[in-house]
Amino acid sequence: MGSDALNRARDKMVQAGVDPVAIDVFAHYFRLLEHGETGMIPESAIDPHDMESLDDVEVSDDVAADAIASTVVIKLNGGLGTSMGMDRAKSLLCVRRGLSFLDIIARQVLFLREKYDVRLPLLFMNSFRTSADTMAALARYDQLPVDGLPLEFLQNKEPKLLAKDLSPATWSRNPDLEWCPPGHGDIYTALLGTGLLDQMIAAGYRYAFVSNSDNLGAVPDARVAGWFASTGAPFAIEATRRTPSDKKGGHFARRKSDGRIILRETAQTPESDRKALADVDRHRYTSTNNLWFDLATMRETLRARQGVLGLPLIRNTKHLDPSDPTTPEVIQIETAMGAAIEVFEDARTIAVGRDRFVPVKTTDDLLVLRSDIYDLGADFVLDMDGGTLPYVALDPEFYKFVDDFDKRFPEGAPSLRHATRFTVTGDWTFGRGVSVEGDVELDRPRSAQRVAAGTVLGADA
Ligand code: UTP
Repeated sequence: MGSDALNRARDKMVQAGVDPVAIDVFAHYFRLLEHGETGMIPESAIDPHDMESLDDVEVSDDVAADAIASTVVIKLNGGLGTSMGMDRAKSLLCVRRGLSFLDIIARQVLFLREKYDVRLPLLFMNSFRTSADTMAALARYDQLPVDGLPLEFLQNKEPKLLAKDLSPATWSRNPDLEWCPPGHGDIYTALLGTGLLDQMIAAGYRYAFVSNSDNLGAVPDARVAGWFASTGAPFAIEATRRTPSDKKGGHFARRKSDGRIILRETAQTPESDRKALADVDRHRYTSTNNLWFDLATMRETLRARQGVLGLPLIRNTKHLDPSDPTTPEVIQIETAMGAAIEVFEDARTIAVGRDRFVPVKTTDDLLVLRSDIYDLGADFVLDMDGGTLPYVALDPEFYKFVDDFDKRFPEGAPSLRHATRFTVTGDWTFGRGVSVEGDVELDRPRSAQRVAAGTVLGADA
């Protein structure tokens, strides 16, 4: 049954013109899936992993400037923001002053080019779903492409597989929905398959800095580049201290069997080890998904393995049409970019501040980003000015999807600069210039309510 399903999936990929290396990579993971690979990492197989901190390392200005001059910046932009009800790239959303994530990323890079007098190429990894919108939004930055490198490359696509028999799903109503991107671990396959890895090396670049396009804290910082260059390591990930709110997320660890650094995700943790996973004093660091690698070593490693890095498999179960739970259950085979850390014996990690990790996974995060918590300086870097992040929790029934959220904050986000906690239950709409002070909790109203413009919530509490 399985090999027939694999053959059909392969044929479908060949017909769609998918890169042969990507088809081999898909077949590798398909077999793992078929054999019930779970990728579980029990607590008994790992030790906690400690690391040096960026604050404590010495990087001279010269080393930093040299390293950034040899760096290519890549932004992962192939995801669809489905957790916020989107079917396009999150980076198209407006953050502030009419600037989207894409605008801010472009301007951060343009600023650094001037500052260091470097070429600093910027490339977006798009999927077939995010390419057109993203390129249209970037069209105004005609000075962005440099050195003959394109502004984007496309990640591969693979068939969604029916959960019942792993055969490739068909959906004549919307054949696009038969396909999905294979997770951001596909970046390595895509860089090899598109020939870009060769092209970047030929143009004289040595390092890649890759990060999520929804993390505006992931600035291609010259000091971090300098640190990475001076380690001589083939691969590194920026880590950040786990806080109680990261309890459920993944963390770095050392594998006992070979001493390598690994990332253990929640889905890879056996139920019986969930307590150890949640122990943020034992497993102190999580990944920012800001990653550095040596281009030449990556090419060598990929070539030696026929393009298959052998990352842990992520089995993602969804509905064929994610917005319609009556459509068949499908499995999407995915891999995560950061998992490649275990492939390299001399990989490194470095602890960085939360300022380099500002992910936007939910509309709660988006509200904070759109509020006055951050300033955007001339360098287009988010600046928190020493403040602390408030805890924000908006009722998912009314705010989870970005369209619903936008309707309820039509005049922009309230001021959160003096807020410690802001929880909203029920259907509230906010007028212009609302401020939140201290700990504010809005309870479910009988019917939809409006917070009048200029209201200071929590002022007299
Ligand atoms: P996430 O999986 O965290 O976010 O990807 P997402 O895909 O944007 O959102 P959800 O989960 O559907 O709500 C982290 C980063 O990796 C990119 C995303 O665009 C995001 O910047 N990504 C994800 C890819 O480039 N390709 C993929 O196949 C998956």
